[in-house]
Amino acid sequence: MLASLLPVASPAGQAGSSVTGNPARGQTVFEQHCSGCHALGENRFGPRLGDVYGRRAGSIPGFRYSQALQRQPLTWSAATLDHWLAGPARFLPGARMTISINDAATRADVIAYLRSHPASDQE
Ligand code: HEC
Repeated sequence: MLASLLPVASPAGQAGSSVTGNPARGQTVFEQHCSGCHALGENRFGPRLGDVYGRRAGSIPGFRYSQALQRQPLTWSAATLDHWLAGPARFLPGARMTISINDAATRADVIAYLRSHPASDQE
């Protein structure tokens, strides 16, 4: 399954699917493919993600977002996260996050994991 995580956007990505994810599998994906840049409780190379579900895009004070993300009026939900993870720069041209997840079920797992973490969680 993890072999399907590629560092390039898939033109055939099926963003927007409503697959229900598995948070335990999502945690493994997060640790292997997101934690190099993101932590749950603090900003690193990428903004903190512990409370990302339901948060406005580009809204963490003090994190230097791209204009692309900062100007977005969108809120992170299962649908918007799915589009983002399928291809960040395709979803929001100019976005600086360079990885994407081609497999819809794997995206759903990561989203389920993020969704299971409220704002106060630490790693
Ligand atoms: C190579 C580093 C890197 C990796 C790996 C990475 N990200 Fe990111 N991520 C970023 C950067 C940088 C941004 C800010 C992008 C911008 O400002 O355009 C970001 C932004 C985000 C945002 C928007 C947050 C907000 O505050 O609006 C989400 C959601 C996100 N990443 C999820 C993930 C997930 C889930 C993974 C693992 C599948 C992941 N990222 C892997 C670097 C990374």
